[in-house]
Amino acid sequence: MNQRMLDAVNAQIQAEFQSAYTYLAMSARFEEMKMSGAASWMRLQWEEETDHALKFFDHVIRRGKTPELQQIKQPKVSFDTAQDAFKQVLEQERMVTRLIHGLYEVAVEEKDYAMQTLLHWYIDEQVEEEDNVETIIDSLRLAGQSGQGLFLVDRELGLRSPEDEEE
Ligand code: FEO
Repeated sequence: MNQRMLDAVNAQIQAEFQSAYTYLAMSARFEEMKMSGAASWMRLQWEEETDHALKFFDHVIRRGKTPELQQIKQPKVSFDTAQDAFKQVLEQERMVTRLIHGLYEVAVEEKDYAMQTLLHWYIDEQVEEEDNVETIIDSLRLAGQSGQGLFLVDRELGLRSPEDEEE
């Protein structure tokens, strides 16, 4: 792995941890809103993003290099409805997708075939993540702001478990 590739992966590790941190802050906000299902969903998302960062971290080490961890900023989280929150999640995930694609372009330019193979997993994962979040936004739109509809969606979000995640 050359220095350009390593710098790009270091930046991606930061982006994954930054996402994780944002989702943990969203989890706290949902706890405050008494939406424990959505809070639990966000907490699992925090875990998943942390795993994404570690997958890159481990890959760098296996390639005989040393990851250089960068600063994680204080997350800015502000929403009053679940629909707003998940729209923000979708924006966040679309941004990560662009970063992953950019990273793939570097891997192609640098002829880093091992990195390209690793990134195939992330590219698929982003398709899945965006699709899941779009489905949640649709459910929230259908539920509207009615107490009962929202209650049911929140309960469903709370059913997400780590076993649902594919490796
Ligand atoms: Fe690691 Fe949700 O992107």
